[in-house]
Amino acid sequence: METAVTVPKIAALKGEQKITALTAYDFCFASLLDGAVDILLVGDSAANVFSGEATTLSFTMEEALYHCRAVRRAVRRSLLVADMPFLSYQVGPEQALQNAGRFFKEAQVDAVKLEGGAVVVETVRRLVQAGMPVMGHLGLTPQSVRAFGGFGLQAADEKGAERLLADAVLLQQAGVFSLVLEKIPAALARRVSESISVPTIGIGAGPGCDGQILVIHDLLGLFEQFKPKFVRRYAELAAVIHQTALRYAQDVRNGTFPSPEESY
Ligand code: KIV
Repeated sequence: METAVTVPKIAALKGEQKITALTAYDFCFASLLDGAVDILLVGDSAANVFSGEATTLSFTMEEALYHCRAVRRAVRRSLLVADMPFLSYQVGPEQALQNAGRFFKEAQVDAVKLEGGAVVVETVRRLVQAGMPVMGHLGLTPQSVRAFGGFGLQAADEKGAERLLADAVLLQQAGVFSLVLEKIPAALARRVSESISVPTIGIGAGPGCDGQILVIHDLLGLFEQFKPKFVRRYAELAAVIHQTALRYAQDVRNGTFPSPEESY
């Protein structure tokens, strides 16, 4: 990737090339990932994989901004998107405007993401009108985990599918530049992707989306607490890291680290 990815470039990729996205939460990982994928999302999944929380509900604005600033220092080429935390935008468009603005002013992100359909349409419109690009998120929206009663498949029946399709159209009309579809049937995700003109980015939503996103810890095999069916582990780094720590401990205990060359 030569030049920086922009919001219009993402929109233009639909139908031309699959969009690639991963999450990032810190400077080191973001440095390694910048330019390898089109989009880096500072997801509120940081609450899970960084902080060890069971849900994303506790993630705060201050935590989100801290992670975004760290990632921003590394990212020059990929599009940087900030996830808006639970209750940072649901109270109303004015509150959302203030909080979204903080991501652009204090962390220089390129766009924000927020969860939900019809209920956030007015908010999306206000942010977009203020010049803040918004990525939507439908299906298994983890901030609604209590209402869903868990992290199960969403929109699995005809009524749910029709509602999700209608929400996708409303979000497009409100101005989202892309739309995450999480854990919904593959046939529905394909139908949504074919029905709207903005790119869909799937996670657990099958191959019919315009792009895919995964949590970086899942992709690298770093997060061992659970493995959803939709995750493909491209590496098993948890074992590598544990073995490396054991080798280090062994060298310290047997006196081979540090060596004379590693000493002053
Ligand atoms: O928080 C997150 O990481 C996300 C992606 C999984 C889409 O919302």
